[in-house]
Amino acid sequence: MSAVPSRCGPAYTGGSPNADRIMLTIGFVGTGILTEAVVTGLLQTQSQQDLAGRCRILLSPRSEAVSRRLAQAHEAVERCAGNEEVVERSDVVVLAVLPKQLAEVTAGLPFRRGQRVVSFIAGAPVDSVKALVAPAETVVRVIPLPPIRFRKGPVVLYPGNEMVEDLFGGLGELIVVERESELAAIGHASAVMSSHYEVQNTVIGWLQSRGLAEATAALYVRSLFAGLGELGLDAARKGEPVDPAHHETAGGLNECGRAYLAGRGWFDEIGKALDAIEAHVPSKPKG
Ligand SMILES: NC(=O)c1ccc[n+]([C@@H]2O[C@H](COP(=O)([O-])OP(=O)(O)OC[C@H]3O[C@@H](n4cnc5c(N)ncnc54)[C@H](OP(=O)(O)O)[C@@H]3O)[C@@H](O)[C@H]2O)c1
Repeated sequence: MSAVPSRCGPAYTGGSPNADRIMLTIGFVGTGILTEAVVTGLLQTQSQQDLAGRCRILLSPRSEAVSRRLAQAHEAVERCAGNEEVVERSDVVVLAVLPKQLAEVTAGLPFRRGQRVVSFIAGAPVDSVKALVAPAETVVRVIPLPPIRFRKGPVVLYPGNEMVEDLFGGLGELIVVERESELAAIGHASAVMSSHYEVQNTVIGWLQSRGLAEATAALYVRSLFAGLGELGLDAARKGEPVDPAHHETAGGLNECGRAYLAGRGWFDEIGKALDAIEAHVPSKPKG
């Protein structure tokens, strides 16, 4: 990994001809599962000339295990003594603690005017975060998801912000929504992740019941879903729909399976599960 200067200036000049000389210090308050995935993704861009490739990364010391692991593995990453040091030294502060910890963690931290704040906190509206990080005025909500460690998957932003979009743009499929309510709906829809794996595991278990070794069954099923995901994403990028009927033969096996599930209301149940997820969230932002 190439050496990086210890501190960068706060200015961001976007697409200026001198942009390759700009370094950005991005600090994470909360170094848990999601921060590790995001930092891992960011570090894969270190040899590149995009904004994310020119970052110095500061971490709060909790969790101790994750922050030490990342700092030891990458020279662009530094574990700070505390949250105050992260905020003092960062151009962009990322809030990545649990929602219930947010108010207590941000209280008294030295946020400053002109500083950008990125919030990963699920369910915390922009205005409520702004009140906690004043006098910093710029707050952008970002929903990254675990595949960001491979620079894959959706990265949702609200509101749009050129610098934050540049920072996260190389880390997956950037989706900038126009209303905060859209970001909330996307956050609820992302709660299908564990069910997705439950479906995969059910197919893997069925293959095992037919005598396949677990490793063989798992590689087959996970690769199948990943490949189908690539096809679907390619269609979405082209603005094309995916018609399930185009992925089955009339009278064939796929049609048999889909008709069985549709006849039992299985697909309708997915919509109802999303309704239940939405209802499970205590408050919804306006927008
Ligand atoms: N994981 C996801 O897929 C995902 C997706 C979208 C959004 N989010 C949002 O991202 C945020 C982080 O989620 P996560 O999954 O990364 O949670 P997590 O693994 O629990 O990480 C939270 C981290 O905050 C640390 N922490 C606790 N108190 C702190 C303090 N006073 N100062 C600094 N750090 C402190 C914890 O350290 P200790 O371990 O030492 O307590 C922990 O490492 C949440 O708000 C969540 O809603 C997560």
